[in-house]
Amino acid sequence: MILVTGGAGFIGSNFVLDWLAAGDEPVVTLDKLTYAGNLRNLDALADDPRHIFVRGDIADRDLVARLLADHRVRAIVHFAAESHVDRSIHGPEDFVATNVVGTFRLLEAARAHRADLPPTERDRFRFLHVSTDEVYGTLGPTDPPFSERSQYRPNSPYAASKAASDHLARGHHHTFGLPVVTTNCSNNYGPWQFPEKLIPLCIHRALAGEPLPIYGDGRQVRDWLYVTDHCAAIRLVLEAGRPGEVYCIGGTSELANIDVVGLLCRILDEESPPADGRRYAEQITFVADRPGHDRRYAIDHGKITTELGWRPRESFETGLRKTVRWYLDHGDWVADVTSGGYRDWIGRHYAADERGLTPARGADG
Ligand code: NAD
Ligand code: TYD
Repeated sequence: MILVTGGAGFIGSNFVLDWLAAGDEPVVTLDKLTYAGNLRNLDALADDPRHIFVRGDIADRDLVARLLADHRVRAIVHFAAESHVDRSIHGPEDFVATNVVGTFRLLEAARAHRADLPPTERDRFRFLHVSTDEVYGTLGPTDPPFSERSQYRPNSPYAASKAASDHLARGHHHTFGLPVVTTNCSNNYGPWQFPEKLIPLCIHRALAGEPLPIYGDGRQVRDWLYVTDHCAAIRLVLEAGRPGEVYCIGGTSELANIDVVGLLCRILDEESPPADGRRYAEQITFVADRPGHDRRYAIDHGKITTELGWRPRESFETGLRKTVRWYLDHGDWVADVTSGGYRDWIGRHYAADERGLTPARGADG
C-alpha cells in the first residue's frame, strides 16, 4: 500500500486516479481538505476497494503513525502543501505550518515507521517528496535552465517554505538514512486544477465574460507540463529513482504568460465561441504586478530522461486543448469550487484598489 498526501488536490488526485488505472496496488489518501482539496476529484473511486480516503493533517503525528502502521505503508508520495504564491503573499503562516512543519512531522513519522519494518521492507521503503522549480529562484532571459545542480534562491514565501521542506527531506536522508527521493517540477496544468492558478482562472473568467488579469507586462516566462506527464514521472521515480537523489521535471515548454493566455483564448474561440462574435482575447486586462514576481523559470530534465527514460508526451498545445475541453465538460465541478470562499478570495486579491481590475488596456493595446 502507498500513502498519498494531498491526494484530493490538483496533482495528487490526478496521481491517485492514474496510479489505480495503471496497477492494483492500493492507496490510502490523506488530505486535510483545505479550500484546494476536493473529494469530488476522487468520485470515480468512491466504491473502489483499492482506495481509502482519510481526512486529516500531515502534521497530526498520531494519525500519520497509525495510518503508516495499520496499512503497512511501503511508500509515501508527499504532495500535500499550500501551493499558491499569491496566497503566500497574503498569508505566509499557513505555508510554514503545512509545508515546513507538516513535512517535518511526516518525515519523522516515516523514519519511526521504517525503523519498525522488517529488513527487506525497510530497504524497499521510499519517501517521495514532491517539490517545485520555484525553489531555484528566477532566471535571466539567456541563463541556462534550472537543473539538479542549481543553487537554492527562493523568492516568495511559498518557494521559501518548499525550499525548507526540500532541505528537511535531504537532511533526513543524509543523517537518518531515510530513502528520500525529491522531484522539482515546473508549472503543471490540466484537469482538477483549482481556478486560482493562471490557466483555470482564465478559462473560468473567459467563459464568464470577465477580465483576464495579466500581472505586469505579461512577459514573465514559465515552463508548462501537462499534469499526466508529471504523474508518469513520479511513478517512474518511485519505482526506479535512487534514494538521496533529486530529479528535475519539466515540459520543455517555455512561454510568456501573455502568450499562454493568447493561445488559451484562441483555443476557447474554437471550442466554445462567444455568442456575440467577440474574441476572448478582448477580455485580456493588464493589472498590477505580483510583488517579487519571478521573471523566468525553465527546467533541464536531462537527468530523469537519461536515467529513467522519462519525457513529456503532451505538447503545450495538445495539453492545453485537452484542459480546455475538460473544463468545458465539467462546469458543475467549477461551479462547486467557485462558490463562497472562492468568491471571497477573488474579491480580496483582485480588488480594484489592489490590482486595478478595471480594464486598463486591452490585448491589442
Ligand atoms: P493543491 O493546492 O491543488 O493541493 C494541495 C492538497 O494538499 C489539497 O488537497 C489540500 O487539501 C492538501 N493539504 C493542504 N494542507 C494539508 C495538510 N496540512 N495536511 C493534509 N493535506 C493538506 O496543490 P497541487 O498544485 O496539486 O500541488 C501538489 C504538490 O506539487 C505541492 O507540494 C506543490 O508544491 C507541488 N508542485 C505543484 C506544481 C503546480 O504547478 N501545481 C508544480 C510543481 C510542484
Ligand atoms: P500561477 O498559476 O499562480 O503559478 P506560479 O506563480 O506558481 O508560477 O501563475 C503563473 C504565472 O501567471 C505567474 O507568472 C503569475 C501569472 N499570473 C497572472 O499574470 N495573472 C493571474 O491572475 C495569475 C493567477 C497568475
